[in-house]
Amino acid sequence: MNSSKGEWGSNFGFLMAAVGSAVGLGNLWGFPYKMGMNGGFAFLLFYLILAVLVGYVIMLGELTIGRSTGKGVIAAYSSLSKKYAFLGWMAFLCPILILAFYCSLGGYCLKYTIANLGDFFGASWGVNGVDTAEYFVNFYTNGLEASIFAVIFSIITVIIVMRGVSGGIEKFSKVAMPALFVLLLVVIVRGVTLPGAIGGLKFMFAPNWEVFNGSGWVSVLATAGGQMFFSLSLGMGCIITYGAYLSKKENIEVNALIIPFADTVVAIMAGLAVFPAVFAMGMEPAGGPGLLFITLQAVFDAMGAAGPIFGFLLYLLVFIAALTSSISLMEVVVSVIIDRKEEKGCVANRKNISVIFGLILCVLTILISVDSLGEGGLPKLLGFCWLDFFDLLSEGIMMPVGALLMSLIIGWKLGENWMREELCQEGNQWKMAKFSMFCLKFIAPVGMAMILLGQLDGFFKLGIFS
Ligand code: TRP
Repeated sequence: MNSSKGEWGSNFGFLMAAVGSAVGLGNLWGFPYKMGMNGGFAFLLFYLILAVLVGYVIMLGELTIGRSTGKGVIAAYSSLSKKYAFLGWMAFLCPILILAFYCSLGGYCLKYTIANLGDFFGASWGVNGVDTAEYFVNFYTNGLEASIFAVIFSIITVIIVMRGVSGGIEKFSKVAMPALFVLLLVVIVRGVTLPGAIGGLKFMFAPNWEVFNGSGWVSVLATAGGQMFFSLSLGMGCIITYGAYLSKKENIEVNALIIPFADTVVAIMAGLAVFPAVFAMGMEPAGGPGLLFITLQAVFDAMGAAGPIFGFLLYLLVFIAALTSSISLMEVVVSVIIDRKEEKGCVANRKNISVIFGLILCVLTILISVDSLGEGGLPKLLGFCWLDFFDLLSEGIMMPVGALLMSLIIGWKLGENWMREELCQEGNQWKMAKFSMFCLKFIAPVGMAMILLGQLDGFFKLGIFS
């Protein structure tokens, strides 16, 4: 354990931070909209199966690599073998790419939180009944405004990370995550008690096998896999980095179960916060990425006087969720730089490192924000807008490749005994060793290969799965 970097104050604190990393825009935005576009129930079913057979064991593997090496991603992979150093580098680059667009989207959430507050006070800076699609376009195509919100979001991230593992990240997550949970409950109760809400519940939970007539289910499976994997913060440094701060007495196996479980519960809760209200207001569940900022805002507008209150609560909770994820992304980068400094025998100053990286982050997130989802006039990158291009490199390619190789390395090279040595310390046991190793050797690599193909298919419209 590298004490100069810090350590979690308690296992609960670690869990809140790790669940905070996992619960983010992926759960509250991606999950409902992808579920909406992929037939509801079938998507949920595939998601759950993949979370158990693939997500759980990769989570277990990453936590184990993190704690056994006690290092940031680059040093962690290199200390397993010099040959694996490139995996560390990929895991270091991915969070930088993701942060660039994550902070931009986090800024959108902040904007909507404030706009709903404005509606509540009848202020000029509210949505004020403007058509919600138009309102959204007006906002994100205004590069300056989008950049300002993105930079504010980035600065808040930097301030939390700067304060360290237990004094910043853990302290914030311990308050933010329970608060988020309560806010989500409030919004759900409102949604499911609206007349007509039952349509949304049916959409989510009533068994519906329609997608199985034909080949459509393969693409639903691949989409659910990609979603699962992003939502659990897998395939790059976050979980490894957070695992490195975990004390040897804690039980990795149990923690690796709780994190995906909590993440999945929140994703389903996000569905419950969204679909019943969407159905009750007679709107479309398959609104795609616009579901969060266009459809839902229309739902709040249609709710009458209470609308702005629930709108404010919903966007606030999405903002909080995004923040606990962005701090985990940034911590990957900061921990790697601290390692590097210390290897050179320097004293690493977390504050300076955070601020300098924060400046780089601001530049990147401004680029994404002024590109305005491709409408801002910046040159296209391989035909993609900047956000999609950064997403392609990270979520589309490097992360699934990283997770695929990691499961192969643990399954076939390091093996069960290496895992056991780390997991069974200080009286802890590894109860599901056979199941986990089987999944790591066979199911996770196949699952990740499929997810990788699904991602490439999605980005390049190859038509492999249709
Ligand atoms: N899991 C987060 C979400 O659902 C995003 C995230 C944070 C992430 N850290 C990550 C995704 C690491 C992949 C890898 O929004």
